[in-house]
Amino acid sequence: MSKEHLNIDHVSIEFDTPKGKFKALDNVSLKISKGEFVSLIGHSGCGKSTVLNIIAGLLQATEGGIVLDGKEVNEPGPERAVVFQNHSLLPWLTAYENVELAVKQVFKRKKSKKEMREWIEHNLALVHMEHAMHKRPDEISGGMKQRVGIARALAMEPTVLLMDEPFGALDALTRSHLQDSLMEIQRDLKNTVVMITHDVDEAVLLSDRIVMMTNGPAASIGDILEVDLPRPRERLVLADDAHYNHLRAEVLRFLHERHSKPDVPTIGKVQEVEQVGAAEKAEKDNKLDAA
Ligand SMILES: Nc1ncnc2c1ncn2[C@@H]1O[C@H](COP(=O)(O)OP(=O)(O)OP(=O)(O)O)[C@@H](O)[C@H]1O
Ligand SMILES: [Mg+2]
Repeated sequence: MSKEHLNIDHVSIEFDTPKGKFKALDNVSLKISKGEFVSLIGHSGCGKSTVLNIIAGLLQATEGGIVLDGKEVNEPGPERAVVFQNHSLLPWLTAYENVELAVKQVFKRKKSKKEMREWIEHNLALVHMEHAMHKRPDEISGGMKQRVGIARALAMEPTVLLMDEPFGALDALTRSHLQDSLMEIQRDLKNTVVMITHDVDEAVLLSDRIVMMTNGPAASIGDILEVDLPRPRERLVLADDAHYNHLRAEVLRFLHERHSKPDVPTIGKVQEVEQVGAAEKAEKDNKLDAA
């Protein structure tokens, strides 16, 4: 496999802040192959979303840049679709209409009306949303909204799928269903995926490589772990697999020993956990339809 598909080439970024310049990333370099599934993992605030947003073209690197299939990219484009943590669907449109909006942008003169309808329905079916495609976001659960967000991104036929903690706000069962769907979809469509996660099991289950970032400021890549587990991968089988558990331990060791965050006060951690818990509860309370 050629590693020259997506090249994150010596990327550094400085933000202007009221206190002066803040260097968030320092010399991040990574070459990603076509069809590869790469996860970014690292402590909160280290710069994962910044890396993803630079690839998406939503932020500009101060030094270095992004090269996709030989072309430098500086602005957003449909070949790099983004799935955010909180779906970002338009609330006044149905699931179908949300996907339609993206499909019209990309395939305006390339598909007939009928082809567009079939394509929208096909992508909603990929994430098992055909039964609720005419509902609006406030009529469906958090997991379903996230699935529509994934369908919308896939429907753009992106070369690269960028996902920023796509399953972070979901309950464990919904999350595992969506992880399985994503593995199946990626096996069939062979998109290149760059996904941010805080979940070590998710990273090992889904990835070909796990990129572990050092703590900021001036964060960079600390280590890269090759996940050489055969596919298809089954979470229940892997739970007892010695190599899987070894890889998992490697990531944990990186996060908790080699790049732990001793400066985070315990009280802050507790508050963070409480906030996450509250978000999850709100999400569950919102559920009108089972995912
Ligand atoms: N627009 C901005 N202006 C100033 N500083 C910023 C800006 N965006 C991000 N930062 C800073 O850059 C650093 C990296 O932020 P980023 O959002 O990339 O972290 P992250 O790894 O995604 O964190 P989390 O896991 O909490 O989402 C943080 O210190 C953040 O405060
Ligand atoms: Mg982030």
